[in-house]
Amino acid sequence: MSFGVIYFAIMPTTDLGLDKTLSALGIAEAEQVSARFADVRTHFENQFQRVHDESEWKTFRDGWLGRKSGVLTLITDNWLKPATQELKRAVGQELNKLRAHVESQIEARRIAIESGAEESALLREHIDLSLPGVHRPIGSHHLIRQVFQEIEDIFVSIGFSVVEGPEIETPYYNFEALNIPEFHPVRDDMDTFYLELPKGAATPLLLRTHTSPMQIRTMEKQKPPVRVIVPGKVYRRDNPDATHSFAFHQIEGLAVDTDITFCDFTGTIEYFVKQFFGPSVKTRFRPSYFPFTEPSVEFDVSCPFCGGTGTASAGGTCSKCKGAAWIELFGAGMVDPAVYGFVNYDPKKVSGFAFGIGIDRLAMLKYGIDDIQVFFQNDVRFLRQFP
Ligand code: PHE
Repeated sequence: MSFGVIYFAIMPTTDLGLDKTLSALGIAEAEQVSARFADVRTHFENQFQRVHDESEWKTFRDGWLGRKSGVLTLITDNWLKPATQELKRAVGQELNKLRAHVESQIEARRIAIESGAEESALLREHIDLSLPGVHRPIGSHHLIRQVFQEIEDIFVSIGFSVVEGPEIETPYYNFEALNIPEFHPVRDDMDTFYLELPKGAATPLLLRTHTSPMQIRTMEKQKPPVRVIVPGKVYRRDNPDATHSFAFHQIEGLAVDTDITFCDFTGTIEYFVKQFFGPSVKTRFRPSYFPFTEPSVEFDVSCPFCGGTGTASAGGTCSKCKGAAWIELFGAGMVDPAVYGFVNYDPKKVSGFAFGIGIDRLAMLKYGIDDIQVFFQNDVRFLRQFP
């Protein structure tokens, strides 16, 4: 209901002849006076029924009790004052009765409306302490983040610091400065998602295919000694299946100093692997190839699940290493002297090692997960298993 409709419904009507004198209304007898006052009262009751809230109540009160033009004032001015001697007494009596009725009714309604408003406010603000509270689940770190942290802790404990770098790279950092020139065959595996850039852009941009560009960015910024690890996301053009994803995670490691040997390198890796999988695992390395390390190796760990036997504890072939007793872990190597040329390090004075650990694979191994896709699907039933 609009305010206008309410307003007119509770305004006193002109039908009662309040603006005319009684003689102009043709009233000459006391009985007629009573009848007319009865009409006024009926009118009052009818309107009064429609008064339900504070604003209606105010309009109604002003309509009846307003000093200047309320009904009672009009009756006083137009009916009582000009009344003939014979009628004056009757009008006065009727008016007093009407006033007493109107005033008491209006006051009673005020109290009713106020307490009603309080009641409904109480209802609105009512708190039921017996209801169970709102459950706001607290999130937890994704398993990948947990593994990142675990690995970071291990390397930080032996003097490495953690740095992060851009996921969008230039070909220079992702390839060239890592000794991978434009037509080098290893680009076939890694030449990947390029960004669409406006014509005339200074350099192409791509999603980094590995965290190794941070080797270059770190050495550009910092003189040796360098000991950093770089956790982050990397991207390759791969079709998704249980072991492939176009986005995955790596931790790069780089240590460069004046006296770093191959022994420091293997010792560091062995320390890490034992911390991560447990003291009983063994490591081994095999020759491999990366353009930015020389020599390059692939690190394997003795299968932590069958104790490096290739046989499951219940008999039969170990499902993790498929009976091989060894599990391939990650690529690494001594930094290729050619790389130092890109960052103004003197290859005759410095040496170092680098490694790139695939985190998803490591997490799958350690926690017995057989599908890499679950890391990216964010199914809470999976996430909840690693609180
Ligand atoms: N960047 C290499 C890859 O993604 C891994 C690697 C890092 C190898 C550092 C050697 C040294 O495959």
